[in-house]
Amino acid sequence: MTDRYAVFGNPVGHSKSPRIHALFAKQTGQDISYQAILAEKDGFAAAISSFLAAGEGPARGANVTVPFKEEAFRLATRRTARAEAAGAVNTLSFEAGAMIGDNTDGAGLVRDIKDNLGTPLAGRRVLLLGAGGAARGVILPLLQEQPSSLLVVNRTASKAEQLVTELSRLASEYTPGLQAGDYASLNQQSFDIVINATSAGLDNSVLPIPSATFAPDCLAYDMVYGRETPFMAQARATGQAGLRVADGLGMLVEQAAEAFFLGRGIRPQTAPVMATLRG
Ligand code: ATR
Repeated sequence: MTDRYAVFGNPVGHSKSPRIHALFAKQTGQDISYQAILAEKDGFAAAISSFLAAGEGPARGANVTVPFKEEAFRLATRRTARAEAAGAVNTLSFEAGAMIGDNTDGAGLVRDIKDNLGTPLAGRRVLLLGAGGAARGVILPLLQEQPSSLLVVNRTASKAEQLVTELSRLASEYTPGLQAGDYASLNQQSFDIVINATSAGLDNSVLPIPSATFAPDCLAYDMVYGRETPFMAQARATGQAGLRVADGLGMLVEQAAEAFFLGRGIRPQTAPVMATLRG
């Protein structure tokens, strides 16, 4: 019997997850099926129930994308600490009647930055732009790498402050260096790693970031993938010595690899999959 997995979203047709998981399965010799399931906006729980009930083999797990990550969080019967900190679930594991909710987004980002881009986070000054779901999803794993500071900047500063307060409540041992602000608070501060977790790039809006934000040898990382965003162009235009720019394709593949590892107990190689997707 083939173990079954699926990604749930709305829309879901654009999702690269079926392709990524198929490549992982082939590479590691795992016999799984993986489909994309379009759930109605108000039908996520029902779609999960149908997936559990129907099909040839046992339903083992699900990945969850927009707009269902918060609902998956509520639906989970148990949640990991990183899912609690994210306030969202992107991976569900089905085990003997239980539904375990996890979030692999932050781990994916950290692995991409550290392993693929060769950039340590420990002791570095990190700036996170945005305070929506994408930003919240990665804060705890970033803090666990022990950067010297993590500043969360948002257009609506109160949302960044709320996020910092919430994280401080959930994981106080990691939050001494965590601060919130608005774009004006960037002033003349410089950072070693700048991560764009806003959705500004989706409509080509330019963020009000001064050039001095990018320190020499800075890594400018956009969670959006597949195209040059205004944030990426802005970082390049500073001409800062040693500056590198990355999109979020590596994070996408690494969060999938982490989910695959949770489901199968095997860590797939991500470099060939990234090369295939970029090709
Ligand atoms: P996601 O799940 O992708 O994080 P979201 O929860 O809607 O989506 O959050 C979008 C984030 O992008 C927010 O931090 C938003 O800032 P506000 O909270 O002030 O709205 C940020 N954002 C979107 N467009 C932006 C823009 N043009 N300039 C600055 N920030 C922007």
